Amino acid sequence: MARSDEAKGANLAQRLAATRALTLDLAAPLSDADATIQPHPDASPAKWHLAHTTWFFETFILRDFVPRYRLYDERWPYLFNSYYDGEGERHARPRRGMLSRPSLDEVRQWRAQVDEALQAALPNLPPEALTLVELGIHHEQQHQELFLTDILATFAENPLEPAYAKLDPAPCHAVEPLGWIDGCEGLLDIGAPKSGFAFDCERPRHQTLLHAHRIANRCVTNGEWMQFVEDGGYRTPTLWLSEGWDWLKREAIDRPLYWHEDGTHFTLAGRREIDRAAPVAHVSYYEADAYARWAGARLPTEAEWEAAFASADPNLGHQLDHAGAVLPRPGGGPYGDVWQWTGSAFLPYPGFKPEEGTVGEYNGKFMIGQMVLKGASCATSRGHSRASYRNFFPPAARWQFTGVRLAKDA
Ligand SMILES: [Fe+2]
Repeated sequence: MARSDEAKGANLAQRLAATRALTLDLAAPLSDADATIQPHPDASPAKWHLAHTTWFFETFILRDFVPRYRLYDERWPYLFNSYYDGEGERHARPRRGMLSRPSLDEVRQWRAQVDEALQAALPNLPPEALTLVELGIHHEQQHQELFLTDILATFAENPLEPAYAKLDPAPCHAVEPLGWIDGCEGLLDIGAPKSGFAFDCERPRHQTLLHAHRIANRCVTNGEWMQFVEDGGYRTPTLWLSEGWDWLKREAIDRPLYWHEDGTHFTLAGRREIDRAAPVAHVSYYEADAYARWAGARLPTEAEWEAAFASADPNLGHQLDHAGAVLPRPGGGPYGDVWQWTGSAFLPYPGFKPEEGTVGEYNGKFMIGQMVLKGASCATSRGHSRASYRNFFPPAARWQFTGVRLAKDA
């Protein structure tokens, strides 16, 4: 092995170990019962996240590339395959909260055994397997974010309002005045370059046409959202898309998820007063779109967002550095605090090709009925996001740290 390959391998081994350790740290404050609850069909139990990320490595690396590797338990792939039809039948997603067995401890033991086997296998894995290890690291980081949003949803269901963990003290920031940046105009390239890690849906990099526009210098704050509520934003049908208005009435929505009428909201650190200067979070695409209309603006397209912040450092901002409670805070940059809804549907780029093999099911088959979000959130592991990153959720989803950045035609 050449020296540069050795260094690359050591770096991958380190990042793999650090990623796997962070997931375990996230689970440290939880009881087996905490980790087993599924608060709603879109969210998964904490234990399931621990197990599913392990299934990913055991299946696509150890089973497929390590001769004579024997699965830890042959029955478990059925439980912890998420959505890969190429891997066969699986346990129904809305029933994930029914799995009181295996226990949290058994899942931890499985993780330890798979980690040991992975580290032992790494020096001898072929390049295509190392590419899958890299994918597995980024996959696990996505689940770290889901772990936090899903445990928030879990504890929000409990009238005792338990806190998951303590928050680091917040730095003091006044709200930056809302300003407008002149957006790029004309033909521009967007998407991930050929080299370096990116998910398949971020490629190929391609040309796109941007019209004259302006993009906000910061996200919409809680204080601004309160004005929208007080101004009857949730009671004015002309502000809403028809589908959004139907959703609002059906679900009796009149404020962001986790907000209470008394000016407090439920967070990973328990119930707290809403910080008016912090970016609003836990709003759906429908709410983001209605707010933008109320504010005389619109949502940016994904290309406008990417062009505006391609030169900003995606590793700066309020993101996840260690296990603990997180909450969007004032004063952050484009990458951090909240994912920002765009007005763009999650569709294939011209010339899109899914990855080879079963992992080709990772993104491509979800290119229907979902909207793109850009940036990163306070629950995104630092180093995970980039300008070309395309997060996506259905328009009604709001249990993620999802917020709003405005744009308008120039
Ligand atoms: Fe997954």
